[in-house]
Amino acid sequence: MEAGLPAISVSPNQGKLLQMLAQIVGARSILEIGTLGGYSTIWLARGLRPGGHLLTLEVEPKHAEIARTNIEHAGLQDVVEVQLGSALEILPQLSTRRRGPFDLIFIDADKPNIPNYFEWALKLSRPGALIIVDNVVRNGAVVDAASSDASVQGVRRFIELLGARSDLGGTAIQTVGTKGYDGFAIVLVGATS
Ligand code: SAH
Ligand code: DHB
Ligand code: MG
Repeated sequence: MEAGLPAISVSPNQGKLLQMLAQIVGARSILEIGTLGGYSTIWLARGLRPGGHLLTLEVEPKHAEIARTNIEHAGLQDVVEVQLGSALEILPQLSTRRRGPFDLIFIDADKPNIPNYFEWALKLSRPGALIIVDNVVRNGAVVDAASSDASVQGVRRFIELLGARSDLGGTAIQTVGTKGYDGFAIVLVGATS
C-alpha cells in the first residue's frame, strides 16, 4: 500500500487505538498534520461519525498523491481531504477561514515543530477535543534533557508547554509493537490537569 514511502506510519495497533479514540469522542471533524501514505488517515476516518470529515496536511507532493490513491481505494474520497502544503502555512489559514473547531487533532509531521503544531491545535480544537501527538517516546530518548536531537527537543518543549497549562490534562502512553518502543501523548482540551 505504501510502496516507495519510508516505513514510518503508525503500527496497526496504534491505528486501531486512533480509530477507537475518534469513536469515543464521537468525532465529526478530524485534523491530521502529516499524512504520508494515508495509513493513519484511513484508521482515523473510519472512526468518524457518519457525515464526518477529515482534513489532512502533507508537504510532500508525492506523499499526498499516494495518500489520495490509498484513500480512494478505501472508499473515503468523499470523507477525507488531503491538503498539500507546509502545515505551518496552512494552519493560520484554517484559523482565519474558520475551519474547525476540530474534535480530534493528530500531530504526526516534523518533530521539531511539535510545539508550534500543538499551539495551533489548541486554537483549532473545541473543548472536549483530543489532541494526540505521535512519537513522544522515541525508544526512551525523550528522557535525556541534554539530547542534541532536534526531534527529542521538540517533544520535550511540547511536554513542558503542556505541564505549564492547568487547563489541559494529558498523559503519554507507551506502545511496543512493529514500530519498536514509542508512544502517543493524549491531551484532553478543557480538562484540568
Ligand atoms: N501520519 C502518518 C505518518 C506521517 S510521517 C501515518 O502514521 O500513517 C510524517 C509526514 O509528515 C511525512 O509524510 C512528511 O512529508 C510530512 N511532513 C513533514 N514536514 C511537514 C510539514 N512542515 N508540513 C506538512 N507535512 C509535513
Ligand atoms: C519516524 C517515525 C514516525 O512515526 C514519524 O511520524 C516520523 C518519523 C521515524 O522513525 O523516523
Ligand atoms: Mg509518527
